[in-house]
This record gives sequence, structure tokens and C-alpha cells, in this order.
Amino acid sequence: MTQVRYRVTLSAMDAFEESGPVLSYYNGAFMRPREVVISPHDRGFQLADGVYEVIRVYQGVPFAFDAHLARFERSAKAIRLSPVSRDEIGAAVSELLNRAGFASSDCLVYIQLTRGVFPRTHAFPPAAIPPTLYMDVTRTERGPHPEPQLNAAVTVQDERWENCHIKSIALLPNVLARQKAAEAGVDEAVLVRPDGTVTEGASSNIAAVFRGTVTTHPEGRRILSGITRSVALSLCDELGIPLEERPMQRWELDEADEILVFGTSTEVGAITLLDRRQVGTGEAGPIATRLQTAFAERVGEARS
Ligand SMILES: Cc1ncc(COP(=O)(O)O)c(C=O)c1O
Repeated sequence: MTQVRYRVTLSAMDAFEESGPVLSYYNGAFMRPREVVISPHDRGFQLADGVYEVIRVYQGVPFAFDAHLARFERSAKAIRLSPVSRDEIGAAVSELLNRAGFASSDCLVYIQLTRGVFPRTHAFPPAAIPPTLYMDVTRTERGPHPEPQLNAAVTVQDERWENCHIKSIALLPNVLARQKAAEAGVDEAVLVRPDGTVTEGASSNIAAVFRGTVTTHPEGRRILSGITRSVALSLCDELGIPLEERPMQRWELDEADEILVFGTSTEVGAITLLDRRQVGTGEAGPIATRLQTAFAERVGEARS
């Protein structure tokens, strides 16, 4: 019986390593993901007391790396966790990519910092303890996408806390929202506050196009300041696409010509079906297409 369970576990790990991370970094050491042993007393595990980042790497070059590292630092400081220096993270990421053989490949780097290992107590440990720094790298398809990816979505009540600008590992409301989307057979959940305000996606930022103007929720505590969002908004500026940063109501989305979705993996995508209702023509609209084309060019410039 024990032997069977062991075999099952191993093959599950093989499958995991095939589609999941191929190499990990854990507090200064590099190892295969299956070799990482993190204490159950880690405050990340027990209390979700930590922050994270996800960075896309195109042909070995981390995209918008400085912006991601700056957000990581802001998130750490916001939860009163001493940030790890950008140089240290930069060096570890480049070694991770080299060791994984991804020095010129497309992949995704995950970075997580928690308040470390300490017997379970809600308040911070009384004495300074070393934080836990974990990273891994996962192969992705060759990017960027030549065209906006098409997404279907459903709206789900935004049940998160008041500090959504922190990229916290406490993602339960996002997990439950995305599960509702999965059960509805769609890709993303568009989060709507009880007063009808559309904030963002479960793991993306959302914008809508009304008569040529891109409209999206302003930065602040209600949304994560997405790196892709900020690249897309600067592209709007460069392309002369009018932009309005204001909270939108759910009913407005029914009148949108296009709905856009921004995220590190998605890049600039289009939501063409929302709550089973077709958005615009049901295809990627002109603004989504212009922005994704410009985004792909921006990735190309960052690589050269
Ligand atoms: C809640 C939320 N909003 C927005 C985003 C998009 O951010 P980024 O473009 O930096 O990936 C994410 C990404 O994970 C997210 O979790």
C-alpha cells in the first residue's frame, strides 16, 4: 500500500516538473522543485504572511524587471517586511535562468518572500528572524502573442480586503473568484464591488473601451498596480488613444465596444464574452489589437 502511494506521488511529481517549475531557489540554494523542503512553521504557509511577484522572461530577458522589483519592494514594505535588495534578487534571478538553461528562452519567474519560520503566532515574531526567499522558473510558450488572446469572463463579487495594491500571497478571494470562473467554463473573473464598481480581474487588470476611450480603474488600494496595465497605459499615450482612469460601474460594461484584460501572462487580451453576453463584435477589437501589437514591439525593444 505504502509502495503504491509512493509510486503515485513520484509520477505526480514528474508531471509537475514537466508542466510546472523546472528549477527552484530557496534561501540562497538552487535545487530541483521536488527537493525544496519548506517548514510547516513558515509564516507564509500558516498565515499567508508574505508577498510575491511574477515576471515574464522573453528570450532570457526579464520584461519590465525594474518595475516588478520596485513593486515587490513596495509590497514588502507595506507589510513591514524588510525587502531583499534589488541587486540580490537580480543576481539570483539571472543565476536561476542560467542554471535552468533559460538564458535565451521564454519563461516565467515566480518570487515569494515571507516573514520566515517561527512558532505560530499572529503578531510578528518578537526577535528578527530571517525571511524566507523562494523563487522558481517555469517554461512558457514563445511570446509575445502576435494578436490579443480572446477571453471569456464572468463577473464575481469582489470580496477582497482594502489593500489590494499589495501583491500579497493571501489570495483566497482571488482563488474562489477564479474557481467560479472555471466552473462557468470561462477564463477570468471580473471583480465587482457590492456598490457595482468594477475593480479588476482575479489575476489581471480590466479596462473597457467606450467610443475610442480606454477606461480603467485608477491605481490605489482597490486594485493591484499591474505592470502590464502601466505599460498598456503608456502605449495608449504614445499611440494617442484617449484614456480615462475612473471607477466604472458593472452596467457600463454592457455598453463597452471592447473589454481589455492586462496581465503578465495574458499581455493585452480581449474579453469577448462577459456573463455569456457578446462584447462588441465578439472578436478582438481595434484598440486591443493596436495595444497588443505595440506591446509585442515593446517586448522586442526591451530584448534588443
Ligand atoms: C489581482 C491582480 N491584478 C492585476 C494583475 C496583473 O498584474 P501584472 O500585469 O503585473 O501581471 C495581477 C497579476 O497577477 C493580479 O493578481
